[in-house]
Amino acid sequence: MRAILCHAYGLPDQLRIEDIPDPVPGKGQVLIAVEACGLGFVDGLLVQGKYQVKDPLPFVPGGEMAGRVLAVGEGVSPDLVGKRVAGLGKGGLAEKAVLPAAACAVLPDVFDSAAAASALINYCTAVYGFEDCGKVRPGETVLVLGASGGVGMAAIDVARGFGATVIAAASTEDKRAACLARGAAHAVDYTQPDWRKTLEGLVGGKGVDLVYDPVSGPWSETAFRCLAPGGRHLVIGFASGEIARLPLNLALLKRASLVGVDWGGHVRAHVDEGRRLTARLIELVEQGRISPRPDSLHPLADAPGVLGDLLNRRAVGKPVIQPSI
Ligand SMILES: NC(=O)c1ccc[n+]([C@@H]2O[C@H](COP(=O)([O-])OP(=O)(O)OC[C@H]3O[C@@H](n4cnc5c(N)ncnc54)[C@H](OP(=O)(O)O)[C@@H]3O)[C@@H](O)[C@H]2O)c1
Repeated sequence: MRAILCHAYGLPDQLRIEDIPDPVPGKGQVLIAVEACGLGFVDGLLVQGKYQVKDPLPFVPGGEMAGRVLAVGEGVSPDLVGKRVAGLGKGGLAEKAVLPAAACAVLPDVFDSAAAASALINYCTAVYGFEDCGKVRPGETVLVLGASGGVGMAAIDVARGFGATVIAAASTEDKRAACLARGAAHAVDYTQPDWRKTLEGLVGGKGVDLVYDPVSGPWSETAFRCLAPGGRHLVIGFASGEIARLPLNLALLKRASLVGVDWGGHVRAHVDEGRRLTARLIELVEQGRISPRPDSLHPLADAPGVLGDLLNRRAVGKPVIQPSI
Protein backbone atom coordinates (compact mmCIF):
# COMPACT_ATOMS: atom_id res chain seq x y z
CA MET A 1 0.00 0.00 0.00
CA ARG A 2 1.03 3.66 -0.36
CA ALA A 3 1.89 5.54 2.80
CA ILE A 4 3.69 8.69 3.95
CA LEU A 5 6.79 7.73 5.95
CA CYS A 6 8.66 9.81 8.53
CA HIS A 7 12.23 8.39 8.78
CA ALA A 8 13.78 11.32 10.69
CA TYR A 9 12.29 14.12 12.77
CA GLY A 10 12.31 17.29 10.71
CA LEU A 11 10.24 19.64 8.60
CA PRO A 12 7.31 18.10 6.69
CA ASP A 13 9.00 18.62 3.29
CA GLN A 14 11.25 15.63 4.13
CA LEU A 15 8.25 13.29 4.10
CA ARG A 16 7.83 11.01 1.06
CA ILE A 17 5.27 8.53 -0.24
CA GLU A 18 6.51 4.92 -0.20
CA ASP A 19 5.12 1.46 -0.87
CA ILE A 20 5.04 -0.55 2.35
CA PRO A 21 3.35 -3.84 3.37
CA ASP A 22 -0.28 -3.70 4.50
CA PRO A 23 -0.67 -3.68 8.29
CA VAL A 24 -2.22 -6.78 9.88
CA PRO A 25 -4.87 -6.36 12.59
CA GLY A 26 -3.76 -7.84 15.90
CA LYS A 27 -5.80 -8.83 18.93
CA GLY A 28 -8.55 -6.27 19.57
CA GLN A 29 -7.83 -4.36 16.34
CA VAL A 30 -9.57 -3.69 13.04
CA LEU A 31 -7.99 -3.07 9.63
CA ILE A 32 -9.58 -0.19 7.73
CA ALA A 33 -9.34 1.17 4.20
CA VAL A 34 -8.59 4.78 5.15
CA GLU A 35 -11.06 7.04 3.34
CA ALA A 36 -10.06 10.22 5.16
CA CYS A 37 -7.38 11.39 7.58
CA GLY A 38 -7.64 14.76 9.32
CA LEU A 39 -4.50 16.81 9.94
CA GLY A 40 -3.82 19.48 12.56
CA PHE A 41 -1.03 21.60 14.01
CA VAL A 42 -0.09 18.73 16.35
CA ASP A 43 0.74 16.44 13.38
CA GLY A 44 3.21 19.10 12.21
CA LEU A 45 4.84 19.06 15.66
CA LEU A 46 4.90 15.23 15.74
CA VAL A 47 6.89 14.87 12.51
CA GLN A 48 9.43 17.32 13.92
CA GLY A 49 9.67 15.37 17.20
CA LYS A 50 8.52 18.53 18.99
CA TYR A 51 5.28 17.24 20.55
CA GLN A 52 4.93 16.18 24.22
CA VAL A 53 5.15 12.52 23.10
CA LYS A 54 7.46 11.24 20.34
CA ASP A 55 6.53 8.45 17.92
CA PRO A 56 9.47 6.03 17.45
CA LEU A 57 11.01 6.23 13.95
CA PRO A 58 10.13 5.35 11.28
CA PHE A 59 6.38 6.04 11.51
CA VAL A 60 3.40 6.88 9.33
CA PRO A 61 1.88 10.18 10.56
CA GLY A 62 -1.86 10.84 10.87
CA GLY A 63 -3.94 9.93 13.92
CA GLU A 64 -7.49 10.98 13.10
CA MET A 65 -9.13 8.72 10.54
CA ALA A 66 -12.28 7.22 9.10
CA GLY A 67 -12.86 4.39 6.65
CA ARG A 68 -14.42 1.02 6.00
CA VAL A 69 -13.48 -2.06 8.04
CA LEU A 70 -11.72 -4.66 5.84
CA ALA A 71 -10.82 -7.26 8.48
CA VAL A 72 -10.81 -7.78 12.23
CA GLY A 73 -8.24 -9.26 14.60
CA GLU A 74 -8.72 -11.82 17.35
CA GLY A 75 -11.48 -11.02 19.80
CA VAL A 76 -13.30 -8.50 17.57
CA SER A 77 -16.79 -9.17 16.25
CA PRO A 78 -16.73 -9.99 12.50
CA ASP A 79 -20.00 -7.99 12.27
CA LEU A 80 -17.80 -4.89 12.02
CA VAL A 81 -16.44 -5.93 8.60
CA GLY A 82 -17.90 -3.63 5.91
CA LYS A 83 -18.99 -0.96 8.43
CA ARG A 84 -17.77 2.62 8.18
CA VAL A 85 -15.97 3.65 11.37
CA ALA A 86 -13.95 6.58 12.72
CA GLY A 87 -11.33 6.53 15.42
CA LEU A 88 -8.01 7.80 16.71
CA GLY A 89 -4.90 5.72 16.23
CA LYS A 90 -1.66 5.85 14.29
CA GLY A 91 -0.67 5.64 10.64
CA GLY A 92 -3.65 7.38 9.02
CA LEU A 93 -1.63 8.82 6.11
CA ALA A 94 -1.80 5.47 4.33
CA GLU A 95 -4.24 3.51 2.21
CA LYS A 96 -4.82 1.11 5.13
CA ALA A 97 -4.39 1.37 8.88
CA VAL A 98 -5.17 -0.60 12.02
CA LEU A 99 -7.21 0.90 14.85
CA PRO A 100 -8.10 -0.47 18.27
CA ALA A 101 -11.70 -1.73 17.91
CA ALA A 102 -12.52 -0.11 21.26
CA ALA A 103 -11.56 3.29 19.82
CA CYS A 104 -13.85 2.98 16.79
CA ALA A 105 -17.29 4.52 16.46
CA VAL A 106 -19.62 3.22 13.75
CA LEU A 107 -20.69 6.19 11.63
CA PRO A 108 -24.30 6.91 10.68
CA ASP A 109 -25.03 7.72 7.00
CA VAL A 110 -25.42 11.45 7.77
CA PHE A 111 -21.78 11.60 8.91
CA ASP A 112 -19.51 11.02 5.92
CA SER A 113 -15.93 9.85 6.40
CA ALA A 114 -14.26 13.15 5.49
CA ALA A 115 -16.49 15.05 7.93
CA ALA A 116 -15.83 12.50 10.68
CA ALA A 117 -12.05 12.60 10.14
CA SER A 118 -12.21 16.40 10.34
CA ALA A 119 -14.08 16.33 13.63
CA LEU A 120 -12.77 13.68 16.01
CA ILE A 121 -10.20 15.83 17.79
CA ASN A 122 -11.32 19.42 17.23
CA TYR A 123 -15.05 18.92 17.72
CA CYS A 124 -14.67 16.61 20.71
CA THR A 125 -12.34 19.21 22.23
CA ALA A 126 -14.92 21.95 21.60
CA VAL A 127 -17.82 19.87 22.96
CA TYR A 128 -15.78 18.98 26.06
CA GLY A 129 -14.50 22.56 26.37
CA PHE A 130 -17.82 24.37 26.04
CA GLU A 131 -20.23 21.87 27.58
CA ASP A 132 -18.20 20.22 30.37
CA CYS A 133 -15.50 22.77 31.23
CA GLY A 134 -16.98 26.14 30.23
CA LYS A 135 -20.66 25.35 30.96
CA VAL A 136 -21.75 27.57 28.07
CA ARG A 137 -25.39 28.71 28.13
CA PRO A 138 -27.63 29.76 25.24
CA GLY A 139 -27.42 33.50 24.60
CA GLU A 140 -23.85 33.84 25.92
CA THR A 141 -21.12 35.49 23.86
CA VAL A 142 -17.99 33.54 22.95
CA LEU A 143 -14.73 34.99 21.65
CA VAL A 144 -12.71 32.44 19.62
CA LEU A 145 -9.02 33.28 19.09
CA GLY A 146 -7.25 31.78 16.03
CA ALA A 147 -10.79 31.21 14.84
CA SER A 148 -9.92 30.31 11.25
CA GLY A 149 -7.73 27.36 12.31
CA GLY A 150 -9.03 23.80 12.54
CA VAL A 151 -9.63 24.06 16.29
CA GLY A 152 -11.14 27.54 15.90
CA MET A 153 -13.59 26.62 13.12
CA ALA A 154 -14.87 23.68 15.16
CA ALA A 155 -15.27 26.02 18.15
CA ILE A 156 -17.37 28.44 16.07
CA ASP A 157 -19.70 25.65 14.95
CA VAL A 158 -20.02 24.01 18.38
CA ALA A 159 -20.52 27.29 20.29
CA ARG A 160 -23.24 28.24 17.81
CA GLY A 161 -24.79 24.79 18.17
CA PHE A 162 -25.07 25.41 21.92
CA GLY A 163 -26.88 28.71 21.26
CA ALA A 164 -23.98 31.14 21.82
CA THR A 165 -23.12 34.19 19.72
CA VAL A 166 -19.59 33.90 18.34
CA ILE A 167 -17.01 36.62 17.74
CA ALA A 168 -14.09 35.27 15.69
CA ALA A 169 -10.57 36.70 15.93
CA ALA A 170 -8.31 36.08 12.93
CA SER A 171 -5.35 37.73 11.22
CA THR A 172 -6.39 38.22 7.58
CA GLU A 173 -9.43 39.31 5.61
CA ASP A 174 -9.72 35.87 3.96
CA LYS A 175 -9.52 34.09 7.32
CA ARG A 176 -12.16 36.38 8.84
CA ALA A 177 -14.45 35.81 5.84
CA ALA A 178 -14.09 32.03 6.35
CA CYS A 179 -15.09 32.42 10.03
CA LEU A 180 -18.19 34.45 9.13
CA ALA A 181 -19.11 31.83 6.51
CA ARG A 182 -18.80 29.17 9.22
CA GLY A 183 -21.33 30.95 11.45
CA ALA A 184 -19.49 33.59 13.49
CA ALA A 185 -21.68 36.67 14.03
CA HIS A 186 -18.70 39.04 13.96
CA ALA A 187 -15.00 38.89 13.11
CA VAL A 188 -12.17 41.06 14.46
CA ASP A 189 -8.60 41.55 13.28
CA TYR A 190 -6.64 40.72 16.44
CA THR A 191 -3.36 41.77 14.85
CA GLN A 192 -4.46 45.42 15.21
CA PRO A 193 -3.20 47.18 18.36
CA ASP A 194 -6.71 48.53 19.12
CA TRP A 195 -8.53 45.20 18.68
CA ARG A 196 -9.77 45.32 22.28
CA LYS A 197 -11.65 48.54 21.48
CA THR A 198 -13.21 46.94 18.40
CA LEU A 199 -14.27 43.95 20.46
CA GLU A 200 -15.75 46.08 23.24
CA GLY A 201 -17.67 48.03 20.61
CA LEU A 202 -19.20 44.77 19.39
CA VAL A 203 -20.37 43.63 22.84
CA GLY A 204 -21.58 47.08 23.92
CA GLY A 205 -19.25 47.27 26.93
CA LYS A 206 -20.71 44.09 28.50
CA GLY A 207 -17.69 41.88 27.89
CA VAL A 208 -17.62 38.33 26.55
CA ASP A 209 -18.77 35.35 28.59
CA LEU A 210 -16.21 32.85 27.30
CA VAL A 211 -12.86 32.99 25.54
CA TYR A 212 -11.75 29.91 23.54
CA ASP A 213 -7.97 30.26 23.28
CA PRO A 214 -5.86 27.90 21.12
CA VAL A 215 -3.27 30.63 20.36
CA SER A 216 -1.97 32.17 23.63
CA GLY A 217 0.88 34.73 23.37
CA PRO A 218 0.07 38.43 23.76
CA TRP A 219 -3.59 37.85 22.81
CA SER A 220 -4.52 35.89 25.91
CA GLU A 221 -4.23 38.71 28.44
CA THR A 222 -6.14 41.15 26.24
CA ALA A 223 -8.88 38.55 25.76
CA PHE A 224 -9.03 37.84 29.51
CA ARG A 225 -9.40 41.58 30.16
CA CYS A 226 -12.44 41.54 27.83
CA LEU A 227 -14.32 38.95 29.93
CA ALA A 228 -17.62 39.89 31.53
CA PRO A 229 -17.96 39.28 35.30
CA GLY A 230 -18.21 35.51 35.83
CA GLY A 231 -16.50 34.87 32.49
CA ARG A 232 -14.49 31.74 31.66
CA HIS A 233 -11.23 31.75 29.68
CA LEU A 234 -10.68 28.28 28.19
CA VAL A 235 -6.99 27.49 27.64
CA ILE A 236 -6.82 25.21 24.58
CA GLY A 237 -3.34 25.54 23.08
CA PHE A 238 -0.32 27.63 22.19
CA ALA A 239 -0.21 27.89 18.39
CA SER A 240 1.64 31.24 18.64
CA GLY A 241 4.56 29.36 20.21
CA GLU A 242 4.40 31.64 23.27
CA ILE A 243 2.81 30.72 26.61
CA ALA A 244 1.03 33.76 28.05
CA ARG A 245 1.36 34.84 31.70
CA LEU A 246 -1.58 36.41 33.48
CA PRO A 247 -1.70 38.86 36.44
CA LEU A 248 -3.97 36.99 38.86
CA ASN A 249 -5.64 40.17 40.11
CA LEU A 250 -7.54 40.17 36.81
CA ALA A 251 -9.28 36.92 37.76
CA LEU A 252 -10.31 38.43 41.09
CA LEU A 253 -11.49 41.72 39.63
CA LYS A 254 -13.54 39.96 36.96
CA ARG A 255 -14.70 37.13 39.24
CA ALA A 256 -13.53 35.12 36.24
CA SER A 257 -12.05 31.64 35.81
CA LEU A 258 -9.10 30.36 33.83
CA VAL A 259 -9.97 26.79 32.78
CA GLY A 260 -7.50 24.32 31.26
CA VAL A 261 -9.11 22.18 28.54
CA ASP A 262 -6.94 19.15 27.76
CA TRP A 263 -9.28 16.84 25.89
CA GLY A 264 -6.47 14.34 25.11
CA GLY A 265 -5.37 14.17 28.75
CA HIS A 266 -8.98 13.85 29.88
CA VAL A 267 -9.78 10.87 27.64
CA ARG A 268 -6.46 9.17 28.45
CA ALA A 269 -7.27 9.50 32.16
CA HIS A 270 -10.92 8.39 31.74
CA VAL A 271 -11.22 5.86 28.90
CA ASP A 272 -15.04 5.91 28.93
CA GLU A 273 -14.99 9.66 28.35
CA GLY A 274 -13.48 9.19 24.87
CA ARG A 275 -16.45 7.00 23.90
CA ARG A 276 -18.97 9.32 25.58
CA LEU A 277 -17.65 12.43 23.82
CA THR A 278 -17.56 10.70 20.41
CA ALA A 279 -21.15 9.51 20.98
CA ARG A 280 -22.13 13.07 21.98
CA LEU A 281 -20.48 14.39 18.80
CA ILE A 282 -22.46 11.94 16.65
CA GLU A 283 -25.67 12.81 18.52
CA LEU A 284 -25.18 16.55 17.88
CA VAL A 285 -24.53 15.82 14.18
CA GLU A 286 -27.67 13.65 13.95
CA GLN A 287 -29.71 16.41 15.63
CA GLY A 288 -28.40 18.88 13.03
CA ARG A 289 -27.02 21.18 15.74
CA ILE A 290 -23.46 21.06 14.39
CA SER A 291 -22.11 20.45 10.89
CA PRO A 292 -18.50 19.24 10.88
CA ARG A 293 -16.87 19.33 7.48
CA PRO A 294 -13.35 19.51 6.11
CA ASP A 295 -12.31 22.95 4.89
CA SER A 296 -10.11 21.39 2.20
CA LEU A 297 -9.60 17.92 0.71
CA HIS A 298 -6.22 16.70 -0.61
CA PRO A 299 -4.65 13.61 -2.20
CA LEU A 300 -2.01 11.66 -0.22
CA ALA A 301 0.90 13.28 -2.08
CA ASP A 302 -0.15 16.74 -0.80
CA ALA A 303 0.13 15.78 2.89
CA PRO A 304 3.67 17.20 3.42
CA GLY A 305 2.65 20.56 1.90
CA VAL A 306 -0.53 20.65 4.00
CA LEU A 307 1.49 20.06 7.19
CA GLY A 308 3.89 22.84 6.13
CA ASP A 309 0.94 25.24 5.66
CA LEU A 310 -0.38 24.40 9.14
CA LEU A 311 2.99 25.12 10.72
CA ASN A 312 3.43 28.38 8.80
CA ARG A 313 0.04 29.95 9.57
CA ARG A 314 -1.09 29.59 5.95
CA ALA A 315 -3.89 27.03 6.41
CA VAL A 316 -7.54 27.98 6.69
CA GLY A 317 -9.67 25.53 8.66
CA LYS A 318 -9.31 21.79 8.87
CA PRO A 319 -7.54 19.95 6.02
CA VAL A 320 -8.39 16.32 5.31
CA ILE A 321 -6.29 13.88 3.26
CA GLN A 322 -7.97 11.20 1.12
CA PRO A 323 -5.27 8.48 0.92
CA SER A 324 -6.88 6.53 -1.92
CA ILE A 325 -6.39 9.54 -4.24
N1 LIG B 1 -6.58 21.33 24.36
C1 LIG B 1 -6.86 20.39 23.50
O1 LIG B 1 -7.45 19.37 23.86
C2 LIG B 1 -6.43 20.56 22.07
C3 LIG B 1 -6.97 19.76 21.05
C4 LIG B 1 -6.57 19.99 19.73
C5 LIG B 1 -5.63 20.98 19.45
N2 LIG B 1 -5.10 21.73 20.46
C6 LIG B 1 -4.13 22.81 20.20
O2 LIG B 1 -4.81 23.87 19.54
C7 LIG B 1 -3.84 24.66 18.82
C8 LIG B 1 -4.39 24.98 17.44
O3 LIG B 1 -4.45 23.80 16.64
P1 LIG B 1 -5.04 23.85 15.15
O4 LIG B 1 -4.95 22.46 14.62
O5 LIG B 1 -6.32 24.59 15.10
O6 LIG B 1 -3.97 24.73 14.41
P2 LIG B 1 -4.19 25.66 13.12
O7 LIG B 1 -5.26 25.10 12.26
O8 LIG B 1 -2.84 25.87 12.56
O9 LIG B 1 -4.73 27.04 13.75
C9 LIG B 1 -4.01 27.80 14.68
C10 LIG B 1 -4.31 29.28 14.47
O10 LIG B 1 -3.48 30.00 15.37
C11 LIG B 1 -3.16 31.27 14.80
N3 LIG B 1 -1.73 31.56 15.00
C12 LIG B 1 -1.24 32.65 15.64
N4 LIG B 1 0.07 32.64 15.66
C13 LIG B 1 0.48 31.52 15.01
C14 LIG B 1 1.75 30.97 14.68
N5 LIG B 1 2.88 31.58 15.08
N6 LIG B 1 1.79 29.81 13.99
C15 LIG B 1 0.66 29.18 13.62
N7 LIG B 1 -0.59 29.68 13.91
C16 LIG B 1 -0.68 30.84 14.59
C17 LIG B 1 -3.48 31.19 13.30
O11 LIG B 1 -4.55 32.10 13.03
P3 LIG B 1 -4.27 33.64 12.65
O12 LIG B 1 -3.34 33.67 11.47
O13 LIG B 1 -5.62 34.15 12.35
O14 LIG B 1 -3.64 34.25 13.87
C18 LIG B 1 -3.97 29.77 13.07
O15 LIG B 1 -5.12 29.73 12.25
C19 LIG B 1 -2.54 23.85 18.81
O16 LIG B 1 -1.67 24.44 19.77
C20 LIG B 1 -2.98 22.48 19.26
O17 LIG B 1 -1.93 21.80 19.93
C21 LIG B 1 -5.50 21.54 21.75
